[in-house]
Amino acid sequence: MTVREVQDEIIRLKKENDVCILAHSYQTHDIIEVADFTGDSYALSKMAAKVPNKTVIMCGVRFMAETVKILSPEKKVILSSPTAGCPMAEQMDKEMICQVKEKFPGYTVVAYINTTAELKTVCDVCVTSSSAVKIVNAIDNKNILFIPDCNLGAFVAKQVPEKNIELLRGGCPIHASVKVREVEQAKKRHPDALLLVHPECIPAVSEKADYVGSTSGIMEFAKNSDGTEFIIGTENSILQHLQYECPNKKFYQLSQGLICKNMKETTLVDVLNCVKGEGGEEIVMDEKMISEAKKCIDKMIELGG
Ligand code: 13P
Ligand code: SF4
Repeated sequence: MTVREVQDEIIRLKKENDVCILAHSYQTHDIIEVADFTGDSYALSKMAAKVPNKTVIMCGVRFMAETVKILSPEKKVILSSPTAGCPMAEQMDKEMICQVKEKFPGYTVVAYINTTAELKTVCDVCVTSSSAVKIVNAIDNKNILFIPDCNLGAFVAKQVPEKNIELLRGGCPIHASVKVREVEQAKKRHPDALLLVHPECIPAVSEKADYVGSTSGIMEFAKNSDGTEFIIGTENSILQHLQYECPNKKFYQLSQGLICKNMKETTLVDVLNCVKGEGGEEIVMDEKMISEAKKCIDKMIELGG
């Protein structure tokens, strides 16, 4: 079967089986083309609560599928590739954070959405990269414990200096691996290009950027900018999508290392198997976990608008 034939079969089966396909922007373009909805973590979370179909396939990583299940527990939620986890989400667990919380009494615990459902049960509010500044600003407490990403946390702390933000040493191994040296080399190779980076990059990299924002933020900035050349400092799939959408602009990767192998685990054939009801993994969560984890996701949507 050709790629087009596989895509046509997915489109036919998803209608027949009342399936909605959600895909994070880090998925490859062939998957983005068959998805009903694509975007960054925040857009996907908001969509998760509204999907009308009885089955949802989440093409992304485990915490994203868990978020869909938490917001739509009556639906059958399938993670497209059972082994696609987010290493950052696995860096901190509930027990560890309960111990840390004892050292910070009275603090509001703000969890990046890249955390497990179990950990969310002991946090106060979730954020995503696109909503973090707005939400931290809106929290009615000066003292914030921000977990797990210290780079996103440092970015937020810079934007909201009036808050007292405590950070732990977690982060995305992919974005955090980008070196200042790579920024300097890329700028030298493409002196007219604007540098757009994700806030999961280290502060020394973000400080050199013309724009810092979520995956959707980066894409919108590049599409709407009068600039014609961009160095992209986030997962390299974004370059591929942007090149399709803006054929007259030029996009360069900031680093060859910006490939999230977990996000890339899902193939178009996996999606086909999922719509056939054969592949992926159904997310199963008990009611108590769902209701406890839901509180901080609901709070995110309430404060994030
Ligand atoms: P956003 O979708 O919020 O930009 O986050 C990127 C990411 O790393 C998802 O895992
Ligand atoms: Fe997790 Fe980083 Fe991959 Fe996003 S890019 S899923 S934060 S490892």
